Amino acid sequence: MEKYQNFATKIEKFFKINPSENFDIELFGLLKEIIDFESGYIFFVNPERLEYSFNPQTKQSKCIKENFLMENLTFKNSVFGKIYITGNKFDDNDKKIFKACSSIIANITKDIEISKIIKMQVDALEKGYYEVQKSNKKILEAEKIKSKFLSHVSHELRTPLNSILGFSELMANGFAGPITQKQQEYLNDIKASGINLLGMINEVLDMSKIESNMMKLTRKEFMLNDLIIEIENIIAPLLIKKDIKFTKKIDKSIKIKADYQKIQQVLFNLLSNAIKYTDKCGKVELRAVKEDNFITISIKDNGIGIDKKYHKKIFNKFEQVGESQANSTGLGLTITREIVKLHGGTIDVKSTPDIGSEFIVRLPQI
Ligand SMILES: Nc1ncnc2c1ncn2[C@@H]1O[C@H](COP(=O)(O)OP(=O)(O)OP(=O)(O)O)[C@@H](O)[C@H]1O
Ligand SMILES: [Mg+2]
Repeated sequence: MEKYQNFATKIEKFFKINPSENFDIELFGLLKEIIDFESGYIFFVNPERLEYSFNPQTKQSKCIKENFLMENLTFKNSVFGKIYITGNKFDDNDKKIFKACSSIIANITKDIEISKIIKMQVDALEKGYYEVQKSNKKILEAEKIKSKFLSHVSHELRTPLNSILGFSELMANGFAGPITQKQQEYLNDIKASGINLLGMINEVLDMSKIESNMMKLTRKEFMLNDLIIEIENIIAPLLIKKDIKFTKKIDKSIKIKADYQKIQQVLFNLLSNAIKYTDKCGKVELRAVKEDNFITISIKDNGIGIDKKYHKKIFNKFEQVGESQANSTGLGLTITREIVKLHGGTIDVKSTPDIGSEFIVRLPQI
């Protein structure tokens, strides 16, 4: 036991002065003064089950010989490592001393082990942070390419589509000679499909602008009624196609300072939804009133309606109730809400299945 006392004092002294550097060599050196052995090994198991070892002589952990002593290194009843000595025939006295020494070794190495684990974790975190930064950069670059691509493709698609719409309008108005009723009907179909397609292309383009924070407003003062007259012309082919009765109740004196194109888009989205989700021969109504410094625009239909549980969801990207319809991307309401928000306004929905829906937009007049 005297040997053990010696070991305890020496080892504590050493680790007080020099707590971690080459601790394995020093530790086995001190142990060798009291027990005769050939090689010593320590294995640590860290929480991620990563094993590493220290060995003063061979640095190879697999060559533990048959004749050995082994003790667990424990801290608060949990094993965090093992210590082996190998080589000679060990007697009972050696075993007792080794057991006692192991508890001192556990006590000292636990601090070293903990600091090593912390270091490993800090290293891993730093490495992870760097990796995350690297992949974030990649994602941002990919997003930029995607937005550029979308805006390029959308522009390229819009030009020929506008000419399809323009020329079918000219033909419908008799500029290319008289047309029959059947031709008029087909021209209306071409226009209605063209308008739907243009709407979808614009949605993709707008969504990519919103996602890259590129959507900006160009405000100007205008009469709301002028904008509504223009919108009526745009949606006319859609109304004709479904034989829907359109009525409006508008305060014609309403002046507003807003982004003309974007407010037009809001009304187009809401009106085309009202038409799309209302059966043939249904009704769509547009109202606009002034209250204090706000303008309230409402679009009401007697269509299929929306269950209450979807009232919030439908404003999310790609969210559609039931099965997706043709000519639908599920972006219309997301963009509409974004535009309204950019103007400092709000949008709400009141709707009952099989009765109809009402979308209410409130915009500051400015
Ligand atoms: N007036 C309405 N009546 C009934 N359901 C509606 C109405 N307006 C919107 N919805 C529901 O909300 C969903 C989301 O509308 P949103 O306008 O965002 O997308 P969409 O019309 O499906 O496609 P698009 O992006 O081409 O407009 C629709 O798919 C539909 O289920
Ligand atoms: Mg829509």
